[in-house]
Amino acid sequence: MLARGGNACDAAVAVAAALAVVEPYSSGLGGGGFFLLHRAADRRQVMIDARELAPRAIRREHFFDASDNPREGATVRGGTAAAIPGVPAALDHLTHTCATMPLAQTLAPAIRLARDGFRVDRRYARIAQLRESLLRSSPATRLFLDRGRAPEAGFVLRQPELAATLERIARDGAAAAFYRGPVARGMVDAVRAAGGVWQLSDLEHYRVIEREPLNFVFRGATITAAALPSAGGIALAQIFGMLGHFPPGDVLDPQTAHLVAETLRRAFRDRSLLGDPDHASIPLARMLDPDRLKKDAAGIDVQRASVLPFAAEGDTGGSGNTTHFSIIDAAGNRVAATLTINLLFGSGIVGHGSGVLLNNEMDDFTLRAGLANSFRLRGGEANMMAPGKRPLSSMTPAFVEDDKGVLVLGAPGGSRIISQVLLVALEYLRHPEVDLRRLLAMPRYHHQHWPDHIEIEPEGFSAGWKTAMEGMGHRLHVVNRRWGNMQAVFQPAGSGPAQAASDPRGGEVAWY
Ligand code: GLY
Repeated sequence: MLARGGNACDAAVAVAAALAVVEPYSSGLGGGGFFLLHRAADRRQVMIDARELAPRAIRREHFFDASDNPREGATVRGGTAAAIPGVPAALDHLTHTCATMPLAQTLAPAIRLARDGFRVDRRYARIAQLRESLLRSSPATRLFLDRGRAPEAGFVLRQPELAATLERIARDGAAAAFYRGPVARGMVDAVRAAGGVWQLSDLEHYRVIEREPLNFVFRGATITAAALPSAGGIALAQIFGMLGHFPPGDVLDPQTAHLVAETLRRAFRDRSLLGDPDHASIPLARMLDPDRLKKDAAGIDVQRASVLPFAAEGDTGGSGNTTHFSIIDAAGNRVAATLTINLLFGSGIVGHGSGVLLNNEMDDFTLRAGLANSFRLRGGEANMMAPGKRPLSSMTPAFVEDDKGVLVLGAPGGSRIISQVLLVALEYLRHPEVDLRRLLAMPRYHHQHWPDHIEIEPEGFSAGWKTAMEGMGHRLHVVNRRWGNMQAVFQPAGSGPAQAASDPRGGEVAWY
């Protein structure tokens, strides 16, 4: 799209639609997400909130039995798991507000990939293998398999019904072709057949919301990130607000890693106050108050980990679920978009006749205080599931601007998205030179208050590092796979060449 004279929004529409076809396990028309936009002409920044909505007929009883026990799997499988999708409305919105090309042009590559097929890669093959039993459970999801089994890399996946849906949207727009008419009816029928309560009016009433992004300054750099209903920007603002009271250091050095973990711990503690700002009153001013952050920072012992009454057990995050892309065009317009259908292959429900695979975003709500979701996040009252409400997210598309230039970044990975963006932003700011590939390849760690441990990737942490961290009282949990799939672009101030890099964990595919 850029080579054809389009701008960052044109490219964003095309990429979001193409990813819906070639990474059906991560994001798609049946999901939601956040698009962080920067318009070069007047530096206007806005977040397009295309987060999914709880259907209006959903009730607490759908998730609890008569004895008030949670119904096993009700937020991740079947009709009760799926929330009303936002991505198609965002494609319409971007097309009407900032793109220069019609949907017929920007959706053309996605239509071709769906209709003619594409060769699945090793990542697809591995993820389909992980979710083979879900995909075998209905004729509609068998489409993602090769004769009922997870395909090998190189298998050509064709999605003719999805191609037809994309063609309808390209011709009539998503409002008419997705949120009304046969595609909408097919989704409602599929959800209701799977025990859900969607109504056509849920789809007809879906709207994206333009929100002001979170914006703050750290050591002279301006950081812009996703606002509520993402917890990501707020966590970053709190963490940077606390870290500003300590000298800068290498995030892989145990002394700095200790501080980063302690600030992550405190930001994730506060996450339980967050939820959809249109449904709950959020004490944002108090959470971001510099004096309070200073007090929190003062409460950190620079030599000892905080002691919490929590167990250290189990993995928290994800990796292939959710996707991200970062774009800067020649004029300096930017898009950072993180999109999702939540867990790999979402709810496993496909809209009848449309090829649209639906999300299981209802799992991002809090069902009851103390009850953890798939990312082991335990929310509070503000994120309690309610009809018409958006679930709290960790997706954190972000811009970091300093004297060197501008970095556009983001990643998939559930709750670990926040620590990924944090670590890369901190190291970017610390170095006078930018080596994007090095930043994305850096080993990762994560803390989210509960469970009380630092998760670390299996490679990149020496025995000496582990001993130093444990010596400060941290419990370490080595996760058996590296996580994330960050996609970042850097545009230097002045006239130097841009850099683009894709996470080596996801395959090197950056284009520039
Ligand atoms: N579905 C994962 C998230 O939004 O954080």
